[in-house]
Amino acid sequence: MNILVTGGCGFIGSNLVRYLRRVRPEWKLVNLDTLTYAGNLENLIDLESDPGHVFVRGDIGDREFVEKLLREHAIDSVMHLAAESHVDRSILGPEVFVQTNVLGTQRLLEASRQQGVKRFLMVSTDEVYGSLGPTGAFTETSPLQPSSPYSASKTSSDLLALAWHHTFGLDVVVTRCSNNYGRYQFPEKLIPLMVVNALHDKPLPVYGDGANVRDWLHVEDHCQALLLALEKGRAGEVYNIGGGAERKNIEIVKAILSLLGKPESLIKFVKDRPGHDRRYAIDPSKIKAELGWTPAHTFEQGLDETVRWYVDNREWWQRVMSGAYRDYFDSQYSTRLQVMG
Ligand code: NAD
Ligand code: DAU
Repeated sequence: MNILVTGGCGFIGSNLVRYLRRVRPEWKLVNLDTLTYAGNLENLIDLESDPGHVFVRGDIGDREFVEKLLREHAIDSVMHLAAESHVDRSILGPEVFVQTNVLGTQRLLEASRQQGVKRFLMVSTDEVYGSLGPTGAFTETSPLQPSSPYSASKTSSDLLALAWHHTFGLDVVVTRCSNNYGRYQFPEKLIPLMVVNALHDKPLPVYGDGANVRDWLHVEDHCQALLLALEKGRAGEVYNIGGGAERKNIEIVKAILSLLGKPESLIKFVKDRPGHDRRYAIDPSKIKAELGWTPAHTFEQGLDETVRWYVDNREWWQRVMSGAYRDYFDSQYSTRLQVMG
């Protein structure tokens, strides 16, 4: 089997490439990534001389290039992860989100159709469902009510993928997962940002009252679910993936400080994210019943391992943060401090 993984140098993509090399060593993986600030070849340095992993730098939105790639490598299936993924950035600059997530996905879908790809796995998000009240959980039939430019762009790509199935007959499976955590996550997202700040004894910016809830999923459990969806999912179907670990942001921040032996006085409540979704929770019954998926990690064990990984891999995050992202990070960080409540 020849698989195209898009966004394979990002957080989930690099974990997925490593996972697939381990559990499907006979597959050839072609990793198409344009290497934005969030994509780092260093995430896959251990696969540098692995003949089963071919890295290709390129844009999913370059249709001619993608068609050639699909043809030359005789790609059977596409696992589509490439995206702009950070909600805060989508509020500051939405255009690239439409460019990559909407237009890029449409072009990739069309190239896949033209080249006779046998299966297209669309990695979507639970953010397509919008925000929940204090009870209940998202099912695959919950209404789509995205709030941010990021989630609106992901909803568009999710629906485009389903349209390419219904209209053109492309074999598409869509997955919608909750917040991932684990190694190689860029330190702009909640968990790695808080770890890095705490290690520097810098304030930890918690948006609003810190009571927003996310449903945390270990990235390796997610990778296992993606493989099941690719191999066993039914065409045209959507599968929710969630770790069953609902936590308030403030609980996570306190747990990180406790693991690092740092004081809670580092916590700073800052101005809320505009349009901030209050609560996400996933009902994963369908993927469990139909595809036999079971997450292997408990949140407490996974968080402990993740925090340790960031402590032990200081060089990795120092290097990835020293590039183009540094100026953005610094400016955002000082903005947050100015608006502290
Ligand atoms: P990430 O930002 O860490 O990685 C995205 C990758 O896509 C990067 O390597 C980047 O260089 C690449 N990329 C961006 N634009 C590209 C383009 N035009 N052409 C080729 N490559 C491009 O993201 P992530 O957190 O690993 O998320 C991966 C996917 O999973 C995304 O589609 C995201 O929407 C989805 N998702 C993520 C989470 C999460 O918690 N991280 C949860 C639900 C869904
Ligand atoms: O739910 C799935 C989504 O999870 C994915 O689709 C996105 O790609 C991914 O980035 C993630 O989105 P979130 O907005 O939930 O993740 P983030 O880590 O940015 O924020 C998690 C929560 O923490 C959210 O309620 C906002 C809050 N937060 C975040 C940051 C960066 C803070 O309080 N302070 C911060 O500095």
